[in-house]
Amino acid sequence: MKDYSKYFAPSLKDARKRLSKETQNLQYQIDEKLIGIGNDKTYIIKTYGCQGNLADSEKIAGIMDVLGFTEVDTEEEADVIILNTCAIRDNAEKRVFGELGRLKGLKVFDPNKLFVVCGCMPQEEGTVNKIKDQYNQVDIVFGTHNIHKLPEYLNEAYLYKERILEVFSYEGDIVENIPQKRAHEYSAWVNIMYGCDEFCTYCIVPYTRGKERSRRPQDIIDEIKELAREGYKEVTLLGQNVNAYGKDFTDINYTFANLLSDLQKTDIERIRFTTSHPRDLDDETIKVMATGKNIMPHLHLPVQSGSNRILKAMNRKYTKESYLEKIQKLRSLIPDISITTDIIVGFPGETEEDFLETLRLVEEANFEGAFTFIFSPREGTPASKFSDETPLAEKKDRLLRLNKIVNEGYARGNKRFVSDVVKVLVTSVSNKNDKVLSGYTPHFKLVNFEGSKDLIGKIVDVKVEKAYTWHLKGVIV
Ligand code: SAH
Ligand code: SF4
Ligand code: F3S
Repeated sequence: MKDYSKYFAPSLKDARKRLSKETQNLQYQIDEKLIGIGNDKTYIIKTYGCQGNLADSEKIAGIMDVLGFTEVDTEEEADVIILNTCAIRDNAEKRVFGELGRLKGLKVFDPNKLFVVCGCMPQEEGTVNKIKDQYNQVDIVFGTHNIHKLPEYLNEAYLYKERILEVFSYEGDIVENIPQKRAHEYSAWVNIMYGCDEFCTYCIVPYTRGKERSRRPQDIIDEIKELAREGYKEVTLLGQNVNAYGKDFTDINYTFANLLSDLQKTDIERIRFTTSHPRDLDDETIKVMATGKNIMPHLHLPVQSGSNRILKAMNRKYTKESYLEKIQKLRSLIPDISITTDIIVGFPGETEEDFLETLRLVEEANFEGAFTFIFSPREGTPASKFSDETPLAEKKDRLLRLNKIVNEGYARGNKRFVSDVVKVLVTSVSNKNDKVLSGYTPHFKLVNFEGSKDLIGKIVDVKVEKAYTWHLKGVIV
């Protein structure tokens, strides 16, 4: 047997270096010879982590379909099991290792099953070593920069029956035109950029996703025009810091605000975007948002902490005061806007007083929702070496106290729509009662109401009758 096992070690140190390789825009081309290698085979993809990973999984599914594989609903039926992983917090990684342990038994019955691990975890050398040493059941490992090479890896795994590990730690290129099998027919993820150059001290993403690289404006505009033509109602523009869009262009001056205003002219009915960075969110963007039209009145603006001392230690490059100023500006130009956020509690060195400042900021900013986390040290990041004396029990207590206030914000945010008629993009039918539909308003409020299943994917008028903490209840008008 030909030994074809490859091992390009990931290196967090190299990943940090931003080896100044120029970003290339490549056009995806599948090797014609490989089309059909999956004709009699099936696959399943399990996705962890952020919307970026969901979008990547749609590309992986697109590639699998072109190769001839058929998607199935259970791991038992699948010939190829793909775990698209997330490294953001320890519990995300534990879930993946737990899943690999659980799935191992399936190989006893069917040794030909292929296990694939991709996404952010393989970009960490510690994780790759652990998989190499302790998880023999894994056949293919690749990272975030080489999804387009999946056909080659599958072909080699089938031909040579060797483990394949290939992870690049230099910053990736932009590969356009990878086939994408979208999860929904009415709402689509659209990457506008890849990577992150912020290096917040707690965060692994700049290491796992490489340097900031913006897609060309015309590629994005064309994709969204095509989606509108196909009947899509909503797009969510994706980037780790969308407000840095375009800063890496050397030949044109084109910003996120320019992109939004160009996309306003397309026929897509709803535009959302995530994630915004409080330092880079500029007046031009707020002004374009304020003109409304198809740009939805909801902004997710992660604040992380309300203490200037902690914000500095996090390398967030703004203060509580400048954050609140941006909120004020947003509310003065877009009075009904709904603002949500992310918050980390128990960052190394966070005192009770720092934490109380976060609670005060949450009240002052009047958030209508937040994702809240306990700090999780990530190997290779600066904050993992900061001294951290707060006991876990105390961090958990802070999280509970924070969530109580955050939940009041959710409820307040919902309550302001009682008696209004809201436009709901219908996304699903309840699994408890198939007469009950769910969907989202422009302000990203979840609404439940009675209606027929064929309304999924349509925008309907719903009169809100009652508000709860997590959703609204209404009737179609
Ligand atoms: N680029 C986005 C999202 C990054 S990940 C942003 O800048 O906001 C999503 C959220 O996970 C972050 O906003 C942060 O609140 C949280 N997070 C990131 N790293 C973390 C860590 N090491 N421990 C706990 N939470 C973390
Ligand atoms: Fe992580 Fe900060 Fe980049 Fe967000 S902006 S992905 S938190 S480094
Ligand atoms: Fe997780 Fe990677 Fe996204 S670490 S949050 S999947 S960028």
